[in-house]
Amino acid sequence: MESKIIVAIDGFSSTGKSTVAKQLAKHLGYIYVDTGAMYRTVALYALQNGYAKDGKVQEKLLIANLANIHISFQYNPSLGFSEVYLNTVNVETEIRGMEVSSYVSKVAAISAVRQKLVALQQQMGESKGIVMDGRDIGTVVFPNAELKLFMTASAETRAQRRYDELKQKGDTTVTFDEVYNNVVERDHIDTTRKDSPLVMADDAVEVDNSNLSREEQFTYILSLVKAKL
Ligand code: DC
Repeated sequence: MESKIIVAIDGFSSTGKSTVAKQLAKHLGYIYVDTGAMYRTVALYALQNGYAKDGKVQEKLLIANLANIHISFQYNPSLGFSEVYLNTVNVETEIRGMEVSSYVSKVAAISAVRQKLVALQQQMGESKGIVMDGRDIGTVVFPNAELKLFMTASAETRAQRRYDELKQKGDTTVTFDEVYNNVVERDHIDTTRKDSPLVMADDAVEVDNSNLSREEQFTYILSLVKAKL
């Protein structure tokens, strides 16, 4: 029997990490975990409870209530991937909106939030056979992952992808500039925060997909996986 590995996929926002992670997990019969969804869920909880407003996050209040946040994933067979739940409510759609996006990097910079989520992520990967995407998977969550990928693409390419995605989902108010500014702002916060900033692990393979089709990218990444099995 082939041995199961951990595939850690990190990189900037909207580099297509989740698309390739989902494809890969499906192909290999592995579990896929979107850790960005977990940080987004905490941001949603903060918004719902008034701990995030006027562009600020009330860190102390959020930290005091962390024990009340239960995050889980449930596989949706018709979608072919797992959806995220906040205290038994499916929040998969809600966490993708601009409001959550505008607070999530601030929430993800809080060490107590990171500690809680990293512990949960490490538990999920105990039996290996997992593809996990995020910002610190190869550096902090699974420093011993068998395969680490670091995805990059230009900010323009990423903003355009995000903008098209939001439009497709029916968002009629968002402008390209808003999305672009959000991408740039999040890059800045994610790479400069004190706790677990976004950096490429020394042993990661960098994949710049600005000019790669999904198929080309998948074929290339699959060849990297096969070399590790
Ligand atoms: O991948 P995403 O855009 O859904 O991530 C949302 C935010 O969460 C992003 O601004 C960075 C943060 N994040 C993080 O700090 N660590 C992770 N492992 C995953 C996401």
